[in-house]
Amino acid sequence: MGESRPNSAFHSDNIKGSNTDLLVGALDVQAASAGVRRLREWAHRGMAARSGERALDIGAGTGSETQVLAAAVGPAGDALGVEPNPGVRSVAERRAAEAGSRARFVDGDALALPVGDADVDAVWCERVFQHLAEPEKAATEIARVLRPGGRVALLDTDWATTILHPGEADVVAVLTGGALTAAANPYAGRKLVGQLAAAGLEIHDVGSQALIQDHQKVSWPIIRMLGEGAVRRDLITEGQRDRLYADLTAAAGRGALHMSVTMFGVIARRPA
Ligand SMILES: C[S@@+](CC[C@H](N)C(=O)[O-])C[C@H]1O[C@@H](n2cnc3c(N)ncnc32)[C@H](O)[C@@H]1O
Repeated sequence: MGESRPNSAFHSDNIKGSNTDLLVGALDVQAASAGVRRLREWAHRGMAARSGERALDIGAGTGSETQVLAAAVGPAGDALGVEPNPGVRSVAERRAAEAGSRARFVDGDALALPVGDADVDAVWCERVFQHLAEPEKAATEIARVLRPGGRVALLDTDWATTILHPGEADVVAVLTGGALTAAANPYAGRKLVGQLAAAGLEIHDVGSQALIQDHQKVSWPIIRMLGEGAVRRDLITEGQRDRLYADLTAAAGRGALHMSVTMFGVIARRPA
């Protein structure tokens, strides 16, 4: 069974520990994937950060989108990335400096943003809510920091939308149901609209994008994490796991693998 790189538009979280290089590598692979690029383009258009505005990127990661926001708001504006992981934050700072971007980065938490009330025109928050045990509190924070009329683009994955083919249906269902992922909030994607609405924001647009894996590559780190977790919890037998791995390997060999997960995005606005 051949290894593929720790790949995909799938979980960076499934790479264990906080190894900065692995996390940054996974975020870079995701950033390059067609699905992520499409959803980001849609969301940036919808949020429409403008010259002179103050923009906030919550859970900025490598800062790629903080840089996009910095370019949109220009020298008269400000783009601040909040990133609690110091290793990832220093990568974001270095990359912004190398790119000549004015994006800035600070330590902070989505549940207690280091920003005053109504201080921000535009908030970007991508694939952070899936990490939060209390995402509704983060939605309230977004509403607090937005000025009246300010906009948010909130994007996240819903792990129960994972599709894996081929494989025995009941075995695949166990692996793709979301419960075996490492995410604190694996069903983040479906809750975004309700959480922003409950925080008092007006929903302007909702979008989605399936992130589709290369049909000739099995993402073994993810499959193994799910497969071993399912065996450990006695949800499938070792024999079922091995048959699934063999089915996936054979399908990848003939270019017939399908593996995908759907990301959702919401554009919302604080009422003026
Ligand atoms: C999957 S990465 C996404 C990074 C970036 N937004 C992107 O889409 O490329 C999740 C990021 O959220 C950050 N994060 C995790 N918990 C957080 C929290 N409570 N507040 C803010 N950021 C958090 C992580 O450090 C990580 O950089």
